[in-house]
Amino acid sequence: MELTLEKTREAASRLSAVKTYGHFIDGEWVGGSDGTTIALENPATREVLAHIQAGSASDVNRAVEAAAKALPKWSCSSAPQRQALLRAIAQRIRERQFDYAMMETLNNGKPISDAFSHDIPGAAGQFDYFAGTAFHIYGQTLDFEDTTVIVHREAIGVVAQIIPWNVPMLMAAAKLAPALAAGCTIVLKPAEVACLSVMAFIEDIADLLPPGVVNVVAGHGSVVGQPLVSHPLVRKVAFTGSRPTAQKIIGYAAANIIPQTMELGGKSANIVCDDADIEAAAQSAATSTIFNKGEVCVAGSRVFVHEKVEDQFLEAFARRLAAVRQGDPVDPETQLGAMASKAQFDKVSGYLELGPQEGARAFFGGKAAQVEGLSDGYFIEPTIFTDVRNDMRIAQEEIFGPVTSVIRWRDEDEMLKLVNGVEYGLAGGLWTQNLTRAHRMTRAMETGLIWVNRYFNFKPGIPSGGYKQSGFGRELCLATLDHYTVTKSVVINLNTN
Ligand code: NAI
Ligand code: MG
Repeated sequence: MELTLEKTREAASRLSAVKTYGHFIDGEWVGGSDGTTIALENPATREVLAHIQAGSASDVNRAVEAAAKALPKWSCSSAPQRQALLRAIAQRIRERQFDYAMMETLNNGKPISDAFSHDIPGAAGQFDYFAGTAFHIYGQTLDFEDTTVIVHREAIGVVAQIIPWNVPMLMAAAKLAPALAAGCTIVLKPAEVACLSVMAFIEDIADLLPPGVVNVVAGHGSVVGQPLVSHPLVRKVAFTGSRPTAQKIIGYAAANIIPQTMELGGKSANIVCDDADIEAAAQSAATSTIFNKGEVCVAGSRVFVHEKVEDQFLEAFARRLAAVRQGDPVDPETQLGAMASKAQFDKVSGYLELGPQEGARAFFGGKAAQVEGLSDGYFIEPTIFTDVRNDMRIAQEEIFGPVTSVIRWRDEDEMLKLVNGVEYGLAGGLWTQNLTRAHRMTRAMETGLIWVNRYFNFKPGIPSGGYKQSGFGRELCLATLDHYTVTKSVVINLNTN
């Protein structure tokens, strides 16, 4: 399907017919226990799009009990049954690809062309991928002269999944698909900032889901987080979001000693060597700066450029940012949309002020952007900071906006120390034509995922997750299933005595 402004405008008015979503518990849409709601807003216009429930501990309790009730049957379902469900869900996503993309655009501010070509196909892809794994979840046997050991692999149980607002559908898919493939039942808490697409998606697949297998409780994380994660019937928590919130969740998880997977932020290094393809490296830096407005956990927000090619690289990088079309997220021509919320706009604006105070220079951009006809929108210019030292806060802290810091280097060992000199370690990039150097440098980098000669080279099944304070556990891959299963070893004596 070809996107046109006419189609997206029509869809925007059709999909922003303000409605109120309940919680989804035990296969039914139900109101919250106290009737309080939260408005979902369009960050490009500040229009209200829909309302969700501001959940409470008692809503959480109902959802967890429904998940626990559904567990015995779903955890014993067969591989064909789980595969069929995952494939049917992928199919439903494809059927409404455009509408979900529009809902992501309206609620999150991301350009429709990205939502349509990246986020929604990516979400369907998670269900495809884990559908393929459903037949490959099994235990093992060990044989001894007098003993046979059967290792069963079982669903871990009821899982709590807490997801963020930057890529709502992708996150919902990346959490739900492996848990369903493993036979777990789920209580999902979407982000109160942006979850319109997720609520509509759950509504659309409700008829496919056995009651209680997937439950959704909306609300403020600060209110529903603790009762959800510390509920005695919850056996695992998976979280994507900020480090301070992760620290709280890890604390809640201590109540019942449940395992956690944590996908937190990053301050990933994109390293440009003197033998790099400079135009390609500059393109990758520009894409990383603007993609999803920089609200991307794996963004390459620190570029380390070799001094010999720095001028050439900066010229090419700025030239590309100058050509970026920033504007109405609904316009198919738009490449850079609006920050997802006022909170995120304020946070990024704060770093734009901080950079020059710390001695950095806004080589390109550096302030809020004005978009014609959308004066209330939360727009930020694509920004390059130069004269950056790695110990500045703009180089250490996750900005989560269209802002990239460029750091010059000469000596490889010194540069690698700086690359590793952050608390995070989620992703990274490397540009060189020299194979030996590429292997040497990637092995030295303390990070969970490195793209050589193409940033954001996403393929299904790549283990993804953090080193250090970027979290633990690996998602989007086979190893994810280990997080949703436990083994039981049955040791059978063969001696008849
Ligand atoms: P957050 O981590 O607070 O929000 C993510 C999710 O956690 C939301 O569903 C929220 O409701 C929930 N949450 C909040 N407090 C909770 C609690 N006490 N217990 C359980 N769940 C809770 O992120 P926030 O504040 O919206 O964004 C702040 C920064 O976090 C961003 O600027 C960015 O740097 C980082 N972030 C990183 C993401 C990533 O992909 N790694 C995604 C979103 C945010
Ligand atoms: Mg927060």
